[in-house]
Amino acid sequence: MSTSSSDASQHGLWSKRTAFMFAAIGSAVGLGNIWKFPYMTGENGGAAFVLVYLACVVLIGLPIMMAEIVLGRRGRHSPVHTMRRLAEQDGHSTNWQAIGWLGMLAGVMILSFYVVISGWTAAYLMDSLFNTFQGFDQASAEGHFNRLVDSPWRLLAWHTLMVVLVAWVILRGVNRGIEQATTVLIPSLFALLLLLVGYAALYGDFGRGLTYMFAFDYAQITPEVALKAMGQAFFSLSIGMGAIMVYGAYLPRQFSIPEAAGVVVTADVLVAILMGVALFPIVFASSMEPGAGPGLIFQTLVIAFGQMPGGWLVGILFFALTLIAAWTSAISLLEPTVSWLVDSRGMRRRTATLGSSAVIWVVGLGTVVSFNVGSDWTLYGRNFFEWMDYLTSNVMLPIGGILIAIYAGWMVKRSVLEEQADLGNGLLFKSWLWLVRLLVPTAVFLILLHGFGWV
Ligand code: PFF
Repeated sequence: MSTSSSDASQHGLWSKRTAFMFAAIGSAVGLGNIWKFPYMTGENGGAAFVLVYLACVVLIGLPIMMAEIVLGRRGRHSPVHTMRRLAEQDGHSTNWQAIGWLGMLAGVMILSFYVVISGWTAAYLMDSLFNTFQGFDQASAEGHFNRLVDSPWRLLAWHTLMVVLVAWVILRGVNRGIEQATTVLIPSLFALLLLLVGYAALYGDFGRGLTYMFAFDYAQITPEVALKAMGQAFFSLSIGMGAIMVYGAYLPRQFSIPEAAGVVVTADVLVAILMGVALFPIVFASSMEPGAGPGLIFQTLVIAFGQMPGGWLVGILFFALTLIAAWTSAISLLEPTVSWLVDSRGMRRRTATLGSSAVIWVVGLGTVVSFNVGSDWTLYGRNFFEWMDYLTSNVMLPIGGILIAIYAGWMVKRSVLEEQADLGNGLLFKSWLWLVRLLVPTAVFLILLHGFGWV
């Protein structure tokens, strides 16, 4: 019985350490940081949300990310197969593969709305190429956004384009597709965000923006805010659903897992925070509402792009980078399913990709209509998009995270874990082990219970 990871995966291996980093950062950094983090912060009371989010990232997110990579690298297959193999090797029930199933389902559900929102970004990129935002004020920015989302046909066209783009990279396979797409993106995205922060400092209401994001008022931390902030941490870090596990499966043995996870988490948080620091000063300076919801960045940033010197170019770059960031995340949402179809059904990668993309496209129609004709088709107050978002971030990913933590913490022999985690066997390892064994499952469980109002 082998306890250590084999050195190959049938899907390929990352050619260099940076390739894994960029791909994992590419998965983590996406619409979650650029689009969702600002509007969730705006809807949930600003600094209170940011504080809980940061705490969840450090205490829950980082340990789970490491656990996922450890399991993935040992299993070397799609999450379903990885979990089944590990359970067999470790002498446990193969029902643990449920982690993989839950993750795949969550991936398909997230991707179905992710491609629609990515489509908005593509539409805005096109608009910025034509300099549409020149001289925009609050009313024109809102009108412009509403005209886009009010039209199911326009959304459908962009959504279709995005599904095709995602399928195309997946078809090219692990090394050529995912690696290449992510290596240029991250540095450029950082540079551009810094530029936007500079603009916000010069022309926005910087003081008020920063106060809004960082002046914590503990009274505002309600169980619901905590649940949403935790969900955001899971979503933003791409953890709890096997995406990071499957990338870990392609990680050669000699790379250090804590180092990789640390870099990925840091990059992810930085992008979200920089995005908030750039955005809220502009929101306040243009007397917009921070709680405007999913349209927030689209309605706010274009005012800045329309008025800043060189805003045309900055706008183009911003939407192009956001699109690429969304794209590289979307890829990682589909990879667990595609690798599963290849592993277990013996399907060709092409058939697996085309089939799963078709399913995503169909489910995505629900989100397309959630912003127009179907916005009132609600169940318990949530429309289709809101359900997909809520169930995945606030229920499925946290449950996946609990299961991953329990498996890594309790089901893997300690000696194997010590050998695999690259943390030595001293204090660092013990701290991680006890976070994964106790703090993570308990904290996530309690936040879930409180968030649902059950306790
Ligand atoms: N982390 C991505 C984002 O912040 O946009 C979204 C995501 C990708 C979630 C992959 C989950 C996942 F497995």
